[in-house]
Amino acid sequence: MLTFLPVEPAATYRHGARGSAGFRARVGRFKPHLLSASTLDIDDVDAACELADRFEASGPSSRFVGRTVALVFFQSSTRTRLGFEAAAVALGAHAIGMEDMTVSSRSNGRVRESLEDCAAVISRLCDSIIVRHHETGAAARMASKSVVPVINAGDGWNEHPTQALIDIYAMRRGLGNLGGKSICFGGDPRGRVIRSLIQLLRFELPKEVLFCPPPRYKVPDDILAILEQHQICCRVIPDIEYALRNCDAITMAPYDMSEIGEPADSDFVSPHGTPHRFVITAEKIQRTGSKSLIYHPLPRFEEVDTSCDALPNAMYFEQVRLSKFMRMAVLDRVLSTRRD
Ligand code: CP
Repeated sequence: MLTFLPVEPAATYRHGARGSAGFRARVGRFKPHLLSASTLDIDDVDAACELADRFEASGPSSRFVGRTVALVFFQSSTRTRLGFEAAAVALGAHAIGMEDMTVSSRSNGRVRESLEDCAAVISRLCDSIIVRHHETGAAARMASKSVVPVINAGDGWNEHPTQALIDIYAMRRGLGNLGGKSICFGGDPRGRVIRSLIQLLRFELPKEVLFCPPPRYKVPDDILAILEQHQICCRVIPDIEYALRNCDAITMAPYDMSEIGEPADSDFVSPHGTPHRFVITAEKIQRTGSKSLIYHPLPRFEEVDTSCDALPNAMYFEQVRLSKFMRMAVLDRVLSTRRD
């Protein structure tokens, strides 16, 4: 059973009446877990953005004093882990967790307690589980035995739905409305952030989606299928300068995902470095007169040069600032559910 605390009437968000009316009308309809962006609809996204706006305006609260969020990370993280911890603290909740589940927990390589048992245990000690794991489907496995909501904070190459919510929120902040806009994805097109983000972009009705992948990289069929299903035009472009000249927003990803600890058993073959034609630099932005807004879930490597950081195009650190409010919105949703 889901019970939500009352929310104040909201100003209309980017999608007209659907947004604010949606959140109120949908109280009680939210799914208990957040495992995939595919389970979110436009009203969920609008409601989350509205709530994030409100948390930015209102600052920290004591709304969830006495509630506990477990940070269960089997894979390294800076932003997601500390972002959820900061969000929990800002809501009055506590965060618990181990430095490295693969070493310290009993679900390590030696004892091999199952993920299901791990979830059954941890969920009896907290009010929500945030899990990151190197295996696709790990969050779903934990959700199958958890008695509290589970949030997927990245499972292998599969999905990273809260990062996608953050990215949509930051893009709406930068562009106002993504409808009719050209959005480029630079870097490896197979990552979990893109897979989740494309599923949310389907609501935004962009004019087109461009991909600027390393040579010989294929945009995954499931991502192309989503774009085709929603009649969103997509193209592959040969260099990032084309995107700087023609796109409203460019969301970058590393060209060499092995640097961020992706699973060794994936089909990834490292290109060992980023060719210059895929690198965004201040010189390219200035020479093209580009107004493209540049996003990146981070961490970055060479694909966005540090010379860009002081330019108004650079949105990636603002994206991190906004991420705290979106994570507060996500936690608000799950902590408002009542335990059976
Ligand atoms: N964007 C992101 O997921 O960063 P971390 O890997 O540092 O959490």
